[in-house]
Amino acid sequence: MIRFFWNFIWISIALTFLNSCSNPQGESKSRSIIETRVDSVLSLMTLEEKVGQLNQYSLGSEFTGPGNKKGQDSIRYQQLISGQVGSVLNLLGTANTRKMQELVVKNSRLGIPLLFAYDVIHGYKTMFPIPLAESSSWNLELMQKTAQAAGAEAAASGLHWTFAPMIDVTVDARWGRVMEGAGEDPYLQSEIAKARIRGFQGNDLSHNKTIAATAKHFAGYGFAESGKDYNTVNINQYILHNHILPPFKAAVEANVASFMNAFNDINAVPATANKYLLQDILREEWGYDGVVVSDWNSIGELVNHRVSPDLRDAAKKAIIAGSEIDMEGNAYVQNLSDLVENGEIDEALINDAVRHVLRLKFELGLFEDPYKYSDEKREKEIVGNQQHHELSEQMAKESIVLLKNDRNILPLKNFKTIAVIGPLAKDKDTPLGNWRAQAVENSAVSLYEGLEKALPSDTKLNYAEGVKLSIGPNNFFQEQVINEEDRSGFQEAKLLAQNSDLVIMALGETAYMSGEGRSRANIGLPGLQKELLKEIEAINPNIVLVLMNGRPLELTWENEHIPVILEAWHLGQRAGTAIAETLIGKNNPSGKLTMSFPRHVGQLPIYYNHKTTGRPSTAPGQVFYSHHTDVDNSPLYPFGYGLSYSEFEYSEVELSQKSMTEEDSITVSLSVTNISEIDGQEIVQLYIQDLVAEETPPVKSLKAFQKLKIKAGESVKINFTIQKDMLSYYKSNGEVALEKGKFKVYVGANSTVQNHKEFSLK
Ligand code: BGC
Repeated sequence: MIRFFWNFIWISIALTFLNSCSNPQGESKSRSIIETRVDSVLSLMTLEEKVGQLNQYSLGSEFTGPGNKKGQDSIRYQQLISGQVGSVLNLLGTANTRKMQELVVKNSRLGIPLLFAYDVIHGYKTMFPIPLAESSSWNLELMQKTAQAAGAEAAASGLHWTFAPMIDVTVDARWGRVMEGAGEDPYLQSEIAKARIRGFQGNDLSHNKTIAATAKHFAGYGFAESGKDYNTVNINQYILHNHILPPFKAAVEANVASFMNAFNDINAVPATANKYLLQDILREEWGYDGVVVSDWNSIGELVNHRVSPDLRDAAKKAIIAGSEIDMEGNAYVQNLSDLVENGEIDEALINDAVRHVLRLKFELGLFEDPYKYSDEKREKEIVGNQQHHELSEQMAKESIVLLKNDRNILPLKNFKTIAVIGPLAKDKDTPLGNWRAQAVENSAVSLYEGLEKALPSDTKLNYAEGVKLSIGPNNFFQEQVINEEDRSGFQEAKLLAQNSDLVIMALGETAYMSGEGRSRANIGLPGLQKELLKEIEAINPNIVLVLMNGRPLELTWENEHIPVILEAWHLGQRAGTAIAETLIGKNNPSGKLTMSFPRHVGQLPIYYNHKTTGRPSTAPGQVFYSHHTDVDNSPLYPFGYGLSYSEFEYSEVELSQKSMTEEDSITVSLSVTNISEIDGQEIVQLYIQDLVAEETPPVKSLKAFQKLKIKAGESVKINFTIQKDMLSYYKSNGEVALEKGKFKVYVGANSTVQNHKEFSLK
């Protein structure tokens, strides 16, 4: 009876919708139609059913099997069929999602479809480079495309919603999750956030190739004390407003469908129960009206944070603060109804949250067709297809960062015998990276395979593993045991090095040495790799060091002794092809770092846009200035840094005028010339320094960039426009400040650029 009623309502609303599409107010009309539908569904729901929409479980395919978990997990099963589960994570594939959807739609009283969510972080089946690697490309269009392809694969597998992008600004390479984001700069992180959201969501969530995205983790997770995962975050309001929040604000502007809160407490308030973040900023200041999901049991963890004595109180604090869906915490399903009935919380809070969930379901088109994403034919065509592998290769090539290339050893030429040494050289799994969704284990092209294909047939390629990187299990859940003792492969590797013209060493971190729960106190090459590298270097210093890792590493010794260093991250499906083609010069590297590489772990956190301090420097030999006595203040490789086989020359910066007002702008122009004989790409970066401000300003901040293709010998003239929003900052009270005075604009190849002109805002 109820379903007959739905059908009638939907058909008449659909007709109204079709009419609305032909007029210019179509979008707002369809929005208001959705609001009407949301309200009509809400009005039919019992309190328990409403709470059910806020309950999310992680369920495997066994729940869709013949027994439907009846015997084994009868509580969850009962909840599913009585409409007390609103969304499910980690259930995949058209067959499984269809069965689960059927179970709920056919059995529950109102038949409200489920949302299927999953962590599609850098690919679903086809693995793209890890997000930190992709960010090094600074290629927004390409990042949008990889997100789009990942979203299309996920949508074709029955999924509706990804928990990505992670847009936490990260300044501490000890934190394992730096691999999931776009590094240390808030502006670049914001631009990349928008590109990825556009990629996942497209213009129309109801399209069967798009999925809902999530801006996570709100907020401050990237500033975990000492880079230790889940750790407390203590930051001042200036950092919050200027470094942490801008990417989230950008995500709101890009219409991101959902927000996820964070595990950490921030200035003594857990993010999950943080009214200031979730209400004052997200809802009131930014006007966000999407849904907020908790992180995994982060509501339950309020008890561990010791702000709640029990789960009931945790549920109360979280819903009042604005955490709307309880992911795997059992806090809401067990307590919210009771809290309402007892008069401890207002049902209006629940209604608002449910409205957000229902609206997302409508936007995805699930009420019209709950099975629209479960189409086996589409799944076969789209998931892991050839075009996506090609796109992954293209992205991998742009993500590589050339850190050092002495004597122009690269691109490789005239080497007859090459030794390929290292635990990652033939590794087909590491390049897939952590958070790899449904990637097939060991399915990446290894570096060795790539080289075999790319090098001329008269080059002799020899291989030795040299050393094992880890021992025992290598997976998402378990701690990796690093090999600290077994040197049995050293001898063979050394012999090989001795008899070769060149050594390519593939070292770094396995896929599961970075990512969630993988913080490291020591960020040098793990295990015995450095020892092996030193011994090889003593025999044959002609080394190309290819690094595969998920975070900035400490490479001070390597930088001093090894002539060539290529940062190849975890590059995804065709990593080996991308690296090999870069080594031989078929691909000219163009990536630039989005996180500073420190000289020493003791410098962390390190980021280019730091404050000047009251003692920036002093006369040589004096000690009373801000520094470590044993390490230089600068990073080893700065933000924005990366080499190319081409060489670029920058002209002086020219300004259209020496001052501007709030109403006008200044055009910055200069030319960049490729003075080499190789076509290349250059990422031109514009930074602004506010000379004097009411609150201590950073030394400089990235405000714009352009990635340009410049042919050998060609010169390109470029312009940037300085507008008032590039000169403003957030004061600690959150207000935007635009202060008159002097500024410097820098344009160049990385964050240490000196090429600048001064101007003023009048
Ligand atoms: C992570 C989230 C992720 C969630 C669901 C948590 O441990 O912090 O980023 O989306 O698990 O898998």
